Amino acid sequence: MILKNKTARDRLVLALDVNTMEEAQKLVTELRDYVGVFKVGLQLYTSVGPDIIKMIQDEGREIFFDGKFHDIPNTVAKASANLVKHGVSFFNVHITGGSKMISTCLKLSRETAKSCGLPKPTVLGVTLLTSFGQKTLTEELLINRNIDDYVSQLAKVAKDSGLDGIIASATDVPKIKKACGEDFIILCPAIRPTWSVVNDQIRVVTPKDAIKTGVDYLVVGRPITSAKDRVSAAKLVLDEMEEALEEVPV
Ligand code: C5P
Repeated sequence: MILKNKTARDRLVLALDVNTMEEAQKLVTELRDYVGVFKVGLQLYTSVGPDIIKMIQDEGREIFFDGKFHDIPNTVAKASANLVKHGVSFFNVHITGGSKMISTCLKLSRETAKSCGLPKPTVLGVTLLTSFGQKTLTEELLINRNIDDYVSQLAKVAKDSGLDGIIASATDVPKIKKACGEDFIILCPAIRPTWSVVNDQIRVVTPKDAIKTGVDYLVVGRPITSAKDRVSAAKLVLDEMEEALEEVPV
């Protein structure tokens, strides 16, 4: 997945945080012209199964499978290969699964894609869930390191293990790009246009600032899915992204 010259639409990832195929279908049909990638997470997948993948493919759009795999290397590799066989070429794993888990997963998923004549998968790493703070890290996991250092170390493991990029907050992007290179992909949630409600997100960033700081993919959910006019909301997000892409061609 080469990011150069990708349009704003290619970079917009819509979170399908719904429970049923009907709701997902409605969002995909309505927004397919404005969204490049639809994010399927555990909530939707455990409800409707692999049919969701087919539905999005039939609509001609890419899937980001947000399954955050974390298990022994063999299990993660085989699950990833199964995803690839379903035609999913964009997914994630927990970096805390370790370099062996990551490299085994990459090897098998790439081989599987090649033997099926499918595109090389893009695999991202999850650093630390935002539900973890310094207190949980120190008191539950007994990790006596500053949370930022811990995340930086995980980014390094991701890069050294061959992952294509990570999921990160926009504020960490300059540091990560400096350490891991400009081509290291960053997908960023907690995107909030100035006109939208912040909801439960904490460190939010506007679509424009996200692009300007170097984020490659923007995950947007409720600012679009909960809007009264979803198409207009998506267009506004794209406008902001396009404006920033013109200022900072990436
Ligand atoms: O609705 P909203 O724009 O907040 O949706 C954000 C999406 O990004 C959700 O699917 C959520 O699970 C995901 N996410 C997040 N924060 C993270 C990682 C993922 O909000 N740190």
